[in-house]
Amino acid sequence: MHEELDAVIVAFDEEQGVGTLTLNRPDALNAMNGQMRADIETGLELLGERDAEAEGVAVRAVVIEGAGEKAFCAGADVTGFADASPAAFDAHGLRAAIGEFSAPVVAKIDGYCLGGGLELALACDLRLASESSRLGFPEVDLGLLPGAGGVQYVSRLAGPAFAKELAMTGEHIEAERAASEGIVNHVYDDEAFADEAASFVDTIADKPPLAVRAIKDSGNVSVEAGLREGRKYDRRIFGTLLETDDHEEGARAFADDEYDPTFVGK
Ligand code: COA
Repeated sequence: MHEELDAVIVAFDEEQGVGTLTLNRPDALNAMNGQMRADIETGLELLGERDAEAEGVAVRAVVIEGAGEKAFCAGADVTGFADASPAAFDAHGLRAAIGEFSAPVVAKIDGYCLGGGLELALACDLRLASESSRLGFPEVDLGLLPGAGGVQYVSRLAGPAFAKELAMTGEHIEAERAASEGIVNHVYDDEAFADEAASFVDTIADKPPLAVRAIKDSGNVSVEAGLREGRKYDRRIFGTLLETDDHEEGARAFADDEYDPTFVGK
């Protein structure tokens, strides 16, 4: 599958079960406008349809990346700032669409990842970055704050002191610093980035997909509802996973080193 929407290219690798959404406004450093927000949501819907058509699970992971050499996403499109209403910047629907998407969504950051671009990456389940990437919240220099919960989410991952520093200084930080603070999962050398990122995503895509989906939801419940609800969720879903073919397959492979398991999401 390869479909070019106005601001996002949607692709799906059937064999690996990996979908890719490429933010496709490279001349504007993939700055986020309303069209791009809508296209990301549409892209997720198109990928979700693959699951609906499949027996078991078709989509094992989705990668969001930026087109061109320079940016993942340089934030909200500032050209529309002067006369836009707050609703024009509303990215909460986008965060919900990514959080509620069944398979894990990975932000593949190669270049600038600023403002709403960083908030998009934070809405993803995992973040990978090339070494030369730069991350930051420049909104303060426009007299604003990150409007889609950026300070909230960095506070959860790295603590409020770092979140405030990032948003108050507006500095672009190095990928390594972002990783050491916990807002990026892995940083790879620029030359190896494409291969390393693909290999990381494949590792997750090869796991039993229902378990991976349950783990995504469990992490989200822990943040959104807290420990009590989170533990209830885990107990409930654990019982369901025990009944799956994939659990049987994994248990068989554990007992027999020669056996190569196939996980189908059933
Ligand atoms: N919205 C709209 N267009 C943007 C943009 C944004 N957020 N960020 C970059 N662009 C456009 C530039 O206007 C420029 O377009 P042009 O070639 O038609 O003039 C093009 O992308 C390349 O950007 P440029 O500034 O020339 O690249 P650079 O390498 O000199 O600087 C940045 C890169 C990221 C440091 C700089 O573009 C920047 O600071 N962007 C704004 C970031 C920002 O404040 N985002 C948050 C908004 S809340």
